[in-house]
Amino acid sequence: MFITIEGIDGSGKSTQSGNIARWLEQESGVKTVRTFEPGDWYGGQDLRKFILGSKNFCALSELLLFMTDRAEHVNKVILPALRAGHNVVCERYNASTIAYQAGGHNLDIEQVKNIIAACNFPVPDVQILLDIDPETAIARVRHRNNHDDKFEAEGLALLKSVAESYRDIEDLITIDCNNKTENQVFKSVIATLGAVLWPYR
Ligand code: TYD
Repeated sequence: MFITIEGIDGSGKSTQSGNIARWLEQESGVKTVRTFEPGDWYGGQDLRKFILGSKNFCALSELLLFMTDRAEHVNKVILPALRAGHNVVCERYNASTIAYQAGGHNLDIEQVKNIIAACNFPVPDVQILLDIDPETAIARVRHRNNHDDKFEAEGLALLKSVAESYRDIEDLITIDCNNKTENQVFKSVIATLGAVLWPYR
């Protein structure tokens, strides 16, 4: 199984990815690799810092850098794990690129989708969207205080466009995270995932 977790910054992806990976490994009895983009491959931290740290890229360069990161990540982490028969739970993937580079940074959405399609990356079995009000999300992000990330620095306006764009992407399973505790969100996620992965259980 290849599962991706999507959502705006501060939507709780990291917490839920950890929970989901542990749950999936237990339920399926199959080793489950937890990973994220950008940067979770050998050498990828440098590219991550380069992409997130620069204020100087145009939107197209930014897109191509995220695609470079994904090419390495797919080649070095995701495909080897899937080929070995493991599950993969990945924070951020193609839908992030559509939501941020088209929705957030105004690239043409067809151009973004075409570039993604041309790369032939493996298609996730399930894509989960953690949907949360941008105002709540930004308060969490500010609390985290990670000022070296230019995307987070762009603030509320960007998150609002990104959140809207996410809602328009097909094939994402949306989990409403508003006014819910971490545990309530996790329960919704596993109820949904369980029904999708094992409908006859
Ligand atoms: P990350 O720090 O993992 O996000 P979070 O703050 O939710 O933990 O991701 C860094 C930023 O990269 C995030 O603001 C979204 C952005 N991003 C894109 O713009 N396009 C992409 O394709 C990906 C993978 C990430």
